[in-house]
Amino acid sequence: MRIDIITIFPEMFVGPFSESIVKRAMQKGLVEIELHDLRAHTTDKHNRVDDYAFSGGAGMVMMIEPVDNCISALKEKRHYEEVIYMSPDGEQLNQSLCNQLSLKQNIILLCGHYKGVDERIREHLITREISIGDYVLSGGELAAAVLADSLIRLIPGVLNDETSALSDSFQYGLVSPPVYTRPRIYNEWEVPAILLSGHERKIEEWKLDQAIERTRQKRPEL
Ligand code: ADE
Repeated sequence: MRIDIITIFPEMFVGPFSESIVKRAMQKGLVEIELHDLRAHTTDKHNRVDDYAFSGGAGMVMMIEPVDNCISALKEKRHYEEVIYMSPDGEQLNQSLCNQLSLKQNIILLCGHYKGVDERIREHLITREISIGDYVLSGGELAAAVLADSLIRLIPGVLNDETSALSDSFQYGLVSPPVYTRPRIYNEWEVPAILLSGHERKIEEWKLDQAIERTRQKRPEL
């Protein structure tokens, strides 16, 4: 999979992509991520990426030209299945959408800023709009990092059998069962005896019961 990210703050991605699973996936060549600084695609001498809204109103609007230049340059190199605009009013991200998008070969993520982007970008250049939740971030960068992370861990070979995404919360419409590690007793708080029984079938049944019960309690809408 290849993910091209268009942003005015490429540095914001350094942390999320330089540790742990995402870092390893990049090193293994299982995902290629390229950051594109929108300012490099401006044509004026001030490298403007935003301007005042027609008819006034609060806030600046991201201009169409640099975005179009950047997306067009990318599209000359390869075919993109999705050009995604990160936006709080987009379709809300969930595991099923992650599963679907993780099968794509090449995608572009566009991070918005200010009061949004010129509507013509959304009308003509974008194939999909995704929100990571009903709250407003300062920009699309953190949302794009969340989306990228959620997709990368689903790429075959990124996780090993033990950490397999198949056992993640939400994959079967259930949250994960509780897990424990040593010590067996801490402050008189004990690990459930069943987990130490060595009885594999019963342990699996217990995990499923716990997952169902937890889902009922914490996330009944699932
Ligand atoms: N940009 C600002 N807020 C956002 C959100 N909640 N999801 C996606 N992109 C955003």
